[in-house]
Amino acid sequence: TYVVTENCIKCKYQDCVEVCPVDCFYEGENLLVINPDECIDCGVCEPECPAEAILPDSDDRAADWIEINREYAARWPNITRKGDPLPDADDWKDKPGKKEFLSD
Ligand code: SF4
Ligand code: F3S
Repeated sequence: TYVVTENCIKCKYQDCVEVCPVDCFYEGENLLVINPDECIDCGVCEPECPAEAILPDSDDRAADWIEINREYAARWPNITRKGDPLPDADDWKDKPGKKEFLSD
């Protein structure tokens, strides 16, 4: 499976939603997550994210995020259409240490 990681927080560009063939993204207040039971591992979302937030679960940087994606996908609503990015997305893009701002 692929997972959404820290870089999505406070950005939520949603380009990933547009390309996912199985609509397996779920929406929180300030990030999206992927449902690992629905993701077919096609990889098309990875290069689409302007924040480079999407990684394969085999990537070391994804380790902390595998459980977060699974847990939140189970209780957040499914998102199938791209909406607007968060208002300050471009200011937050590429900022490190955003995990503390994760809104669940
Ligand atoms: Fe969707 Fe494919 Fe990305 Fe999985 S890897 S979330 S199926 S676009
Ligand atoms: Fe987040 Fe990137 Fe999608 S910022 S909403 S993972 S395009």
